[in-house]
Amino acid sequence: MPEAWGPLKGTSDESKETLNKVGKKYDKTWAQVVLRYQIERGVVVIPKSHSQERQQQNLAVLDFELEDDDKQLISQQ
Ligand SMILES: NC(=O)c1ccc[n+]([C@@H]2O[C@H](COP(=O)([O-])OP(=O)(O)OC[C@H]3O[C@@H](n4cnc5c(N)ncnc54)[C@H](OP(=O)(O)O)[C@@H]3O)[C@@H](O)[C@H]2O)c1
Repeated sequence: MPEAWGPLKGTSDESKETLNKVGKKYDKTWAQVVLRYQIERGVVVIPKSHSQERQQQNLAVLDFELEDDDKQLISQQ
């Protein structure tokens, strides 16, 4: 099973903007959208954060499911 060591780093500001727009539909942040997208692709994600709030956000990605058109958009980021 593939693993993403560094699933969030390197995301451009432009991509974050698009991903945040997608996230609004699900009440999630750009980072949660990225993590969820990778999980739905079968990738094990290993995010790191020094912020307790963001650590909690990174765990809260199992309570929504991305729609196909959103996944298509995310794949282009
Ligand atoms: N990347 C590699 O090549 C590699 C190799 C071996 C081991 N690892 C390990 O894999 C883990 C991945 O860490 P990584 O730093 O490489 O990559 P990462 O987790 O993709 O990126 C970490 C960066 O994303 C930010 N971040 C985390 N959660 C966020 C959120 N919800 N919203 C916004 N920003 C968020 C962090 O900032 P804040 O801290 O300010 O939240 C930090 O700048 C670590 O445990 C690392 O030790 C990575």
